[in-house]
Amino acid sequence: MTDHQLFDLTVGYASFKNPVALAPMAGITDAEFAKKTAQAAGLIVIGAYNLDFETNEAAKRMSERGRKEFITEDPMELLESELEKLGDLDSVIAVNVRAVSTEDYMQAALLARKHNAILELDAHCRQPEITDLEAGEELINDSDKLKNLIQRIKRTGVVLSVKIRANVVENTQLARMIEAAGADILHFDAMGTHGADLRALRDVRDVTNLFLIGNNSIRDFEAAKEMYGRGADMISVARGVLENPELLNELAIATTALQRQTGWYNVPKHLCGGGDLRALTFCCLPVKHCAVHTALKKVGMTPRQFAEFKINFVNGTPLQYGDGTCFGSMAWCCKASKPCFLRDSVLDTIDLSHTEYTELHQNQGTSTENTTTQTHDTNTSLHQPSQHTHTLQKQQEREKTLETSYTTQ
Ligand SMILES: Cc1cc2nc3c(=O)[nH]c(=O)nc-3n(C[C@H](O)[C@H](O)[C@H](O)COP(=O)(O)O)c2cc1C
Ligand code: SF4
Ligand code: SF4
Repeated sequence: MTDHQLFDLTVGYASFKNPVALAPMAGITDAEFAKKTAQAAGLIVIGAYNLDFETNEAAKRMSERGRKEFITEDPMELLESELEKLGDLDSVIAVNVRAVSTEDYMQAALLARKHNAILELDAHCRQPEITDLEAGEELINDSDKLKNLIQRIKRTGVVLSVKIRANVVENTQLARMIEAAGADILHFDAMGTHGADLRALRDVRDVTNLFLIGNNSIRDFEAAKEMYGRGADMISVARGVLENPELLNELAIATTALQRQTGWYNVPKHLCGGGDLRALTFCCLPVKHCAVHTALKKVGMTPRQFAEFKINFVNGTPLQYGDGTCFGSMAWCCKASKPCFLRDSVLDTIDLSHTEYTELHQNQGTSTENTTTQTHDTNTSLHQPSQHTHTLQKQQEREKTLETSYTTQ
């Protein structure tokens, strides 16, 4: 199995060999830097490139005060030559760009598309020389302008990523707007007051189906896993690569090993451990006061609907078994990484591996996620009568317990 098949990560014409990315650093991450440090990454974001006279003049002023910048008199020629230099890599390339006029963004988008590359809108740069031009982070403050820009760029057919920084405006509203406008990827610098704001990342995951790249302060695989566990489809690294040029390689190897071992590299943390709504798949019957109730309110499901959804979902699958487990069915069982001899003895009996168990839960988690991101429109399958009445009967006794819990809430 190739790495592309192992991860199955595709956005439009871009297919990633793994969910690890180089994040852009102006004046540093060009084709040459990428070839030296990022060949193992599934995605390489180069730039930021300044697409017009105004942004190049701004970059000159920034470099005069010591910042590294890419400055050119012929932006499109530079972009094209950088893309050509990276044409022989099996990583997807994205170009992070800043401009004043929409036309320049569109020209760059056409160029990116010609090279099967992604265009990344730099709505992140907070240097005053750039924000004074109403570019960079200033785009986040003018959501109508950003929306219009996304819609027009998407007409070129390019795969479009939007790079933003957390906590500049309300994160979830911004993410919803970017998705509704038609972007494909949200590259989310989860910058918080002390390192990455993982809660912000999770909240964004919970409101959007965009391909989500989690970024900020990743220096080892543990930090990457924290982001995967909050719903990042991919993680990216900037400063960490300057400190350790082997980091992307190490992260790609570790993520690939995790995917081979578990079948779900970005398995959510349990809800009570800060995971995103996909973690509902690992929740037990909602019989006690815990994080599941808040999550169900977000999803717009009652505990009963949730119970029926889970029961229907596992019927006919090996997860319906589970005599001897806490709730009589592995529909309600914890992540495989949580040691449990009760669940594992059922898995042994029915000869199901941890990876297969996780994959079955993954289908359910994804289904729950789709339900939640459809603006709280509960999935019609919740209301369909079960095809497996017999198994439902076996659940009746457990539902009685559930009934008692509703009346006590
Ligand atoms: C020197 C430097 C230059 C950067 N230039 C850009 C840029 O041009 N465009 C952009 O979107 N982000 C830029 N960033 C932000 C990074 O891509 C990344 O979001 C941020 O550094 C947090 O990730 P990290 O903790 O892995 O460094 C820059 C960061 C640094 C340190
Ligand atoms: S139902 Fe279980 S796993 Fe889910 S939030 Fe409550 S205690 Fe945690
Ligand atoms: S049987 Fe084990 S895995 Fe299943 S719910 Fe109970 S503690 Fe969790």
